[in-house]
Amino acid sequence: MIGVTVDVGQPEAEFEEAEATADALDLEHHVVDAREAFADQCLEAVRANATYQDYPLGTALARPVIAERILEVAREHDCGAVAHGATGKGNDQLRFEAVWRGSALEVVAPIRERGLTREWEQEYAAERDLPVEGGDEGAYSIDTNLWTRSVEGSELERPDHVPGEEIYEWTDAPGSETDSAELEITFEAGYPVALEGEELESVDLTERLNERAGTHGVGRTDVMEDRMLGLKVRENYEHPAATVLLEAHEALENLVLTKAERAFKRQVDHEWAEHAYEGLLDAPLMDALESFVETTNERVTGTVTVRLEGGRARAVARDSASAVYSADAVSFDTETVGEITQDDATGVAKYHGFQERLANTVLEGGSDH
Ligand code: ARG
Ligand code: SIN
Repeated sequence: MIGVTVDVGQPEAEFEEAEATADALDLEHHVVDAREAFADQCLEAVRANATYQDYPLGTALARPVIAERILEVAREHDCGAVAHGATGKGNDQLRFEAVWRGSALEVVAPIRERGLTREWEQEYAAERDLPVEGGDEGAYSIDTNLWTRSVEGSELERPDHVPGEEIYEWTDAPGSETDSAELEITFEAGYPVALEGEELESVDLTERLNERAGTHGVGRTDVMEDRMLGLKVRENYEHPAATVLLEAHEALENLVLTKAERAFKRQVDHEWAEHAYEGLLDAPLMDALESFVETTNERVTGTVTVRLEGGRARAVARDSASAVYSADAVSFDTETVGEITQDDATGVAKYHGFQERLANTVLEGGSDH
């Protein structure tokens, strides 16, 4: 048997745990570094403004990356089967297996197949001295990657329970910082490429922003989430960098895209996120959606200033050479829009609402038509 841990930015302790567990079980253990591939995937998600039920997708983006790396190791070692420890009630089983079931390998899911509970897992681990925890002595089920940290289980399963500060690790309590801060983010074709003018690769950029925004309490979500199977789950997330980048990216799109493009892109983004949530990044529809995301984002180049304050990230300035904006045209201080005068709008104003006025007259039983 072989154990594989894929690095998508988990904390160091999780690798130590994995190593110790592999030792205890006498497994050959492989650690595969997928941080850059994963961070790049997250920045792709920024271009599609990817959120699910109002939180930035994270776990969902990581699962296909992890599943593919595991499959590679399994193939290299002529394995006959791949296994995961996800529950039969969750999303992760579906996301892993969406990748694996396309291979000839058998899929084993012991937790699901044997109906095991978390308590059973903890007892099993304790009996064998396996250093498996999870966070808070294993009370919570925590999933951490570069992009998001998710905490579920234990008393958080009660939607009426107010979580204590102890569940948060990436964010300080909003409002506890003394000052607000402003950050300038540079985008090129929809990809964030620099922070305060300093060019950074995807991993560094994400890590730095998590730090910076986390100290301002930016990027906390407490939601009732609808899982694929129809079960609702209470989730708590932390995602400072994602919150800042999504806010900044959309602010820049709003400057450079036309109204119709923005409206249509919302639908495209929604479909993108729904597929990503289900772990179906490889779906043919995704290629088609990606083409639209790619075309529209060619113009999303420029800078955005984001203010971090009171747990929020707000775009407060944006600038782009591709802006579909003319200060001269829209200004209250100029009389004309090029050749067009203000008075040219009088005819438009006379017509506007004509059909509605007519319909209302008909509904009211009026007869003058
Ligand atoms: N519900 C989220 C999702 O499906 C995150 C699940 C993460 N897993 C965990 N054990 N906290 O994307
Ligand atoms: C799990 O990690 O098995 C539970 C979370 C999920 O799959 O949605």
